[in-house]
Amino acid sequence: MKTKSIILAAGQGTRMKSNTSKVLHEIFHRPLVHYPIEAARYAGAKDVCLVVGHKAEEVMTTFGDTVQYALQTEQLGTGHAVMQAIDFIEDEGEVLVLYGDTPLITVGTIEKMLAFHRKKKNAVTVLSALVEDPTGYGRIVRDESKHFVKIVEQKDATDEEKRICEINGGMYVFEAKLLKFALSKITNNNVQKEYYLTDTIEILLDEGHNVDAIAIMNPDDILGVNSRAQLADATAIMKQRINTKHMDNGVTLIDPQNTYIDPTVSIGKDTIIEPGCILEGETTVGENCTIGFNTKIKNCSVADEVCIESSVLTDSKIGKGAHIGPFAYIRPNSSIGENVKIGDFVEIKNATIGEGTKVSHLTYIGDADVGAHVNFGCGTVVVNYDGQKKHRTTIKDNAFIGCNTNLVSPVIVEEGAYTAAGSTITNNVPQNSLGIARARQENKAEWVTKNRQN
Ligand code: UD1
Ligand code: CA
Repeated sequence: MKTKSIILAAGQGTRMKSNTSKVLHEIFHRPLVHYPIEAARYAGAKDVCLVVGHKAEEVMTTFGDTVQYALQTEQLGTGHAVMQAIDFIEDEGEVLVLYGDTPLITVGTIEKMLAFHRKKKNAVTVLSALVEDPTGYGRIVRDESKHFVKIVEQKDATDEEKRICEINGGMYVFEAKLLKFALSKITNNNVQKEYYLTDTIEILLDEGHNVDAIAIMNPDDILGVNSRAQLADATAIMKQRINTKHMDNGVTLIDPQNTYIDPTVSIGKDTIIEPGCILEGETTVGENCTIGFNTKIKNCSVADEVCIESSVLTDSKIGKGAHIGPFAYIRPNSSIGENVKIGDFVEIKNATIGEGTKVSHLTYIGDADVGAHVNFGCGTVVVNYDGQKKHRTTIKDNAFIGCNTNLVSPVIVEEGAYTAAGSTITNNVPQNSLGIARARQENKAEWVTKNRQN
C-alpha cells in the first residue's frame, strides 16, 4: 500500500510575533515541521509534500530537495491548502495529512491510525481526542448510535455542538482517489469563508463511504504550536518523553526537568547525567560515564567510562576512561585518547591527544598531534598562529613539557624529550633531550640590602 503524506505549513503564525516562519522555530535544534515529516516517514509515508505559503522561500531553503512542495499563495483554508498539492496525490494508495506545527505527533499514533483505517476500510479516518476544554477546535459530531456524522468548526457550531468534547486533531488518512474527488466538491460556504478540509468527510459519508474517527489516548500528540508559550510547552513535553526513554534504557538523570537531550543523542546504560547538562546533535555517550553538572556536548562521540565535569565539548571524540574538566573546552576536530586527563581551564582545538597523556591545568593545545603518556606542565601554550596561518605541532610519546612552555609552531618535540619550564621552544627538540630556551638566571648578591631605602 503506497502512503504519501501532505503536511500543511502555509499559515502565518501571527501569535509567534516572529520574522521567521512559525514552522521553522525549533525544538531541540530541529524545526517544528521536521518532526511530523520524520514521523510520517517512519510510519511508512516516504514521499512528503509540504504545503508552503507564508515565508515559503525560507522553508524551502531549509528542507531543500528532501521533500516536495506545493505553494499556497493565499491561505484560504485547510481544504484549499490540500488542493494545492493535488498533483502530488495519486489515483491509488493513501494520503496522510498532518500539520507542520504539531511536533509531538508520534510514529506510534500514526501507525495506529493507519491500522484502524485499513481494518475498517475507511474512505477517511480522522484522528480525534477527548479533551476537557474543546474551545477552538472542530468538534466530532456523532449520532445516537455513536456513528460519525460530521465535523463542525467552533465558529459554525450550535451551542449544543460546542459542548462536545471529542475534538478534531486535524490529522487524517484518506484514500487518495476519494480525497481528490471530495476536494473537487468543497465550497467556502461557511462563517469563515474558508475551504474546510473537514467538509470532505461529510461529502464522502454522503457518498456512502466508511468514515470514522479514532480517539488518541494522549492529547499531547496533537498539541499545536501557535505561540512562544506553546513552543515552551511542546519542548517540555518532548524533553520529558526523551528523558523517560533514556531512564527506561538504564541511564540515571539526577534532575530530568533540568536535563536537555536532543532526540538524536544516544546514551549507554549506567551513565549518570547531573543537572544542567545539554547534549546536542549527533552525540553518542557510552556506558558507565559521568556527565557532570552544566556540561554541554555537541556532536561528540564519548566512549565508555568517561568522566566529564562542567565542560563544553564540540565535534570531537573522547576515548574510554578519559577525564575531562572541570571547566575544560574541547573544540572541533579533537580526538582525546583513552585514559587521558584534561584538567581545569584547558582548551584543546583540532588536536589529537594520545593515550594516557595528562594536560592537567591552564593549557592551550591547538593544531597539534600529541603522542601517548605525555605530561604537560601548567600553563603550556601551543603558539599555533602567526597572525596569518595556523601551523601544526608534534609532540611525541613520553615527552615532558615543563610548566609555562611556549611551543612556537611548527615545531617537533621528539619522543621522550623534555622542555625546561618557562621555555619558548622555536626549534625541534631531539629524542630524549632537554630543550631550554630562556635567559639564564643571574643572582646579584646583596642587591636588595644596598638598594633599600630606610
Ligand atoms: C483545523 C480544523 C479543526 C481542527 C484543528 C486542529 C479545519 C477547517 N479545521 O482548524 O477542525 O480541530 O485544525 O488544530 O480544517 N493551514 C494552511 N493553509 C491554510 C490554512 C491552514 O497551510 O489555508 C495550515 C496551518 O498553517 C496549520 C494547519 O493548517 O498548520 C491548521 O490550520 P489552523 O488555522 O490552525 O486550523 P483551523 O482551521 O483553525
Ligand atoms: Ca488552529
